[in-house]
Amino acid sequence: MKPPRPFFQPLAIGAPAPLRELPVRLERMIHFVPPHIDKLRGKVPELAKQVDVVLGNLEDAIPVDAKEAARKGFIEMANAAGFGSTGLWTRINALNSPWVLDDITEIVGAVGHKLDVIMLPKVDGPWDIHYLDQLLAQLEARYSINKPILIHAILETAQGVNNVEAIALASPRMHGISLGPADLAASRAMKTTRVGGGHPDYKVLADPAPGESARTAAQQDLWHYTIAKMVDACVAAGIKPFYGPFGDFSDAAACESQFRNAFLMGCLGAWSLHPSQIEIAKIVFSPDPHEVEFAKKIVAAMPDGAGAVMIDGKMQDGATWKQAKVLLDLANLVAAKDPAMGARYGL
Ligand code: GLV
Ligand code: MG
Repeated sequence: MKPPRPFFQPLAIGAPAPLRELPVRLERMIHFVPPHIDKLRGKVPELAKQVDVVLGNLEDAIPVDAKEAARKGFIEMANAAGFGSTGLWTRINALNSPWVLDDITEIVGAVGHKLDVIMLPKVDGPWDIHYLDQLLAQLEARYSINKPILIHAILETAQGVNNVEAIALASPRMHGISLGPADLAASRAMKTTRVGGGHPDYKVLADPAPGESARTAAQQDLWHYTIAKMVDACVAAGIKPFYGPFGDFSDAAACESQFRNAFLMGCLGAWSLHPSQIEIAKIVFSPDPHEVEFAKKIVAAMPDGAGAVMIDGKMQDGATWKQAKVLLDLANLVAAKDPAMGARYGL
């Protein structure tokens, strides 16, 4: 690994210095837009007011004969809207594809000054991040871009999961990592065709009660191990973990449950692939008003986080004070974007 000092030097003469701290932004949902479809592209200025991140998708789900139209459409939609505090991201094609070089060079050349994050699919190891890192620095220098474009990796290959810690630490350009359950299932030869969520056959069977034959079974979470590993790798590296896609748009309850499990385990947001999932992500990834209320009590009782107090019969100490701060910081971000939620938080 690089020693600390060169880690924060630009990789090209004239490129902006890497960020020491990630920008503080609300990223509850990363909303996917297929930029080759005129009608959906036309809705982006309005959409940008409703979501935290707008992402122009160039990779899977974009037909091969629409790859160039999607790239051009992304540049058009980036130019057409003002994004304010809403993030502007793109998911480029994989590094071994015939489209990726033009994705990167044309997009950074045309709208690199507006682009916050490039999502890189099928990352196997830190070498993939190093390649994009170097290329972005060269392009930033060429086009006089003064804010570094960040990289967000998708964790969707078995090799990537093995190397997730090294990926998270690969560059100060790393913004975060999303779980990609569809490609990961394929890479691992998991026996499911679902995009995220549980599977009715993945369950634990309880022992029968004495003298009875009936047994209860509970479905388990197929993604628990990977999400936990990803959250640890990201948080240890100071970057952000996200759940990715949930494919069954007709099952809002299962989507909410998958998002909520990811939120409780430390993820900051998820992808929304359908407008109905925007509201689900808002509900799940905004902290619960009762939790915020309690967090306020903790911080009021222990302003500097020292010592221990009892609140409503529950022990509070330095660790619960830090948990309370996480919730309050998030609630403040939500309140700034969404005054109705701010009123519910009393902020
Ligand atoms: C996302 O890209 C996935 O493969 O789940
Ligand atoms: Mg994928």
